[in-house]
Amino acid sequence: MNEQGTFTDPILVVEDDAGVRATVVTFLELEGYQVEAVTNTRDAMDRIAARPWPLVISDIYIDDRTGLDVLVAAKDRDPNCCVILMTARGTVETVMTATRHGAFDYLAKPFELDTLLEAVKRAIQSRVAADDEVEAEELPESEMIGHSKGMIEIYKTVSLVAPTDASVLIEGETGTGKELIARMIHRFSKRSTHPFVPVDCGAIPAQLLESELFGAMKGAFTGADRDRTGVLESANKGTVFLDEIGEIDPAFQVKLLRFMQEREVRPVGSSREKKVDVRVVAATNRNLQKMVEEGKFREDLWFRMNVVRIELPPLRERRGDVVHLAHFFNTKYNERYNRNTKMTESGLKALSDFTWPGNVRQLQHLIERLTILAPNERIDAEAVHDAIAAMEPKDGGGETLAETEMDQIRRVLAATGGNKSRAAAILGIERKTLYRKLERMKL
Ligand SMILES: Nc1ncnc2c1ncn2[C@@H]1O[C@H](COP(=O)(O)OP(=O)(O)OP(=O)(O)O)[C@@H](O)[C@H]1O
Ligand SMILES: [Mg+2]
Repeated sequence: MNEQGTFTDPILVVEDDAGVRATVVTFLELEGYQVEAVTNTRDAMDRIAARPWPLVISDIYIDDRTGLDVLVAAKDRDPNCCVILMTARGTVETVMTATRHGAFDYLAKPFELDTLLEAVKRAIQSRVAADDEVEAEELPESEMIGHSKGMIEIYKTVSLVAPTDASVLIEGETGTGKELIARMIHRFSKRSTHPFVPVDCGAIPAQLLESELFGAMKGAFTGADRDRTGVLESANKGTVFLDEIGEIDPAFQVKLLRFMQEREVRPVGSSREKKVDVRVVAATNRNLQKMVEEGKFREDLWFRMNVVRIELPPLRERRGDVVHLAHFFNTKYNERYNRNTKMTESGLKALSDFTWPGNVRQLQHLIERLTILAPNERIDAEAVHDAIAAMEPKDGGGETLAETEMDQIRRVLAATGGNKSRAAAILGIERKTLYRKLERMKL
């Protein structure tokens, strides 16, 4: 059965512009949805008062009230209501207010109808998932969690910078959410319907990075058996995310600088330059300014990258976010592994007190592990302390094979459907170590 088959409720569309309204309504109806459309906020409020709506699609600037008022009213009436807002431009206020009041998505006008359909389908899916959960504090996976002062500042910068084409440098410790922010900048930009292409500059050997980014002509080097389009060209009109930018060598820094100035690519082995239109967002967990001072990173390139800098605070400096993140991940993994694990007060306190050297990623892994393994499906202080201790690297690679450990391994493997890489990550051990342990268990 398709989504529409199980989703029989009408969708409320609030839009004063007759052209946009007709397009959206006709399109959704052709896609098999039932739609009710209104042209002003008063009618919208009347409809919302009359019944709860699972899905509302609203323009922001309508009349004396806005789509944000519609959002608040719809959420008041039915906290599970998904509201998709359509914005001609994202301002700090609207993005912040909408985020705070739990808007499901924003579509920058003008948008492709497929983008709208995709958002509608995601909204309906999230509702299907939320329906059999008691507390539906459900958020889409790509959403940033956290309302700490530090994060609000980040959201403000993001909402200001996203709609521009400015280059952005994102700095922060490992696991603080740099890639998530980069994706958000793209999502809230005019480029959102074009590609977002991440390149891990630290993982690609120096000789290959040039052809990866700029492309290569057939025969340019051994193994180049055909022309290859580089990332900068294939991401045309979109955003390229240069991750681990602090790792690139001096020779490549020169080439990248040239690109940042000219916005032209010349594939390896070619003599022709091509203009490309991409936005560059870069990230690093190193202190680039210090690298500049030490002569390890070109100052001119740093200036080009660093038009706007976003510095993500480590999790230990925004402890208030820990509880929200923990709930978020707990809900997510309960769903994924079909568990019903509950957080306790003492468990949340233990999580908030920890220093999180691996930041959000570490918290995420820990909650994933606890959701599967916590005794009696309760995440209390003891379970948290045990899980943190288990994540700490042990002497001798943790060779002991206690009964409980074997039991844990079995349960994690069962939960992950036998996926050993996933299981090792959840258990906080290396894959090699897991294989060794499994071999012992068979004996
Ligand atoms: N505020 C947040 N809300 C929800 N999830 C988050 C948040 N911050 C980070 N995450 C999640 O934590 C994980 C790590 O985030 P991300 O990959 O963006 O970190 P990073 O800073 O790029 O790390 P690294 O430097 O190691 O590459 C991801 O799974 C991401 O979805
Ligand atoms: Mg990253």
